[in-house]
Amino acid sequence: MRQPPFDRTAAGHQLLERVQVLGRHSDAAGHYTRTFLTPAHQAAARQIAHWMREAGMEVRVDAVGNVIGRYAAAAETRDGPGIAPSPNSVLLLGSHFDSVRNGGKYDGVLGILVPIACVAQLNQAGERLDYAIEVAAFSDEEGARFQTSFLSSRAMIGRFDPAVLDRRDADGVSFVDAMRAAGLDPAKIGEAGIDTTSLAAYVEVHIEQGPVLLKEGRPLGVVTSIAGGSRHLFTVRGEAGHAGTVPMPMRRDALAAAAEMVLAIESRCSAGGSLVGTVGILKVRDGTGNVIPGEVEFTCDIRAADDVARKAAEADVIAKLEAIAARRGVELARKPTHEVRAAPCAAWLQDRLAASVERVLSRDGNRRAARRLPSGAGHDAMVMAEVTDAGMLFVRCGAGGVSHNPAETVSEEDAGAAAEALLDFLRVFEPRSSR
Ligand code: HGY
Ligand code: MN
Ligand code: MN
Repeated sequence: MRQPPFDRTAAGHQLLERVQVLGRHSDAAGHYTRTFLTPAHQAAARQIAHWMREAGMEVRVDAVGNVIGRYAAAAETRDGPGIAPSPNSVLLLGSHFDSVRNGGKYDGVLGILVPIACVAQLNQAGERLDYAIEVAAFSDEEGARFQTSFLSSRAMIGRFDPAVLDRRDADGVSFVDAMRAAGLDPAKIGEAGIDTTSLAAYVEVHIEQGPVLLKEGRPLGVVTSIAGGSRHLFTVRGEAGHAGTVPMPMRRDALAAAAEMVLAIESRCSAGGSLVGTVGILKVRDGTGNVIPGEVEFTCDIRAADDVARKAAEADVIAKLEAIAARRGVELARKPTHEVRAAPCAAWLQDRLAASVERVLSRDGNRRAARRLPSGAGHDAMVMAEVTDAGMLFVRCGAGGVSHNPAETVSEEDAGAAAEALLDFLRVFEPRSSR
């Protein structure tokens, strides 16, 4: 069947228009923040569902608010729906539509909109493939509201952590109440689990969130592996006191201790390679200008492409912070909040994605081999890699490669190239069983 030529410019233009439309659904008036199950989040879910239907997909919302569109395989349309998905018969695509606070509008969202655009192209041409395509718009990857990273992809593979049910957000709203307010039943979260044997693979399109493709003048890249991560919540308890009367040597200043701990994390995680360490949140309890801080809470995020290096750094950091606490006479409590192993991207998916990138970019006269690169950022792909082969296609970030920042940006041309490359990939993809 002769396929209509792909209009990269039109696709890129529509993609960026849609990013802007979704970007207007924000929890905050003055900037872009969209967290799990807020009214803005639910409005974005409805908008995504509408675009999925418009693209010819059947849409369902699962028990944790994932929006999942399905584009049936040729056989299903011939023999009628309802035939049980056979093993390795579904190619799952997707990414997340929640964000960090004051983040960028492309992180996650582009990886939902690009596959929807590809399915719309197939649908318009009346094309059906030998496998079903599902596009998952994951409802909570960043975990910014309840500190619950990868909550919804983990629920999809049947690995939801029930400890999350006890969490409260910054306004004291419980996770359970937030679900109920969004019309979801916390008792039914288990129903979000899918039959993972039906998955042939998972592929995620995502902005690079770094400067490599920009520096090398490449619109697209193929991910080789995704860095693992550990997160902890530390609480330092000293003694609150009068800022004017307690002599310095007699203080047990929780904030001064925490400040030394933050610098110890920075120093240990500056050992080189892919190891990084970040303290993103630090809160002084009942902070008042003329009171010696009695209690401080801070987060710690440690990552590396290599799990051994990450675990070694994590152990060193914990030991250093405990030594600082002992020397300063303050208490230190630690609560692990997140752990995900480094995930390799399947070599066969890397090769297929690289071939599509090269075919598509060669149309521009660009004959370079596709750039393969690791991801320092975490993605739902690392969760899906626990149950099926996973691959990722990176899209160049503008503005110096910055991300998790409102300056985050992608060009229409690059967004269009990503859709053209993914459509090429879909047309040649063969589920594992026939490989
Ligand atoms: O933190 C990350 O790497 C991702 O943005 N959740
Ligand atoms: Mn992110
Ligand atoms: Mn992301």
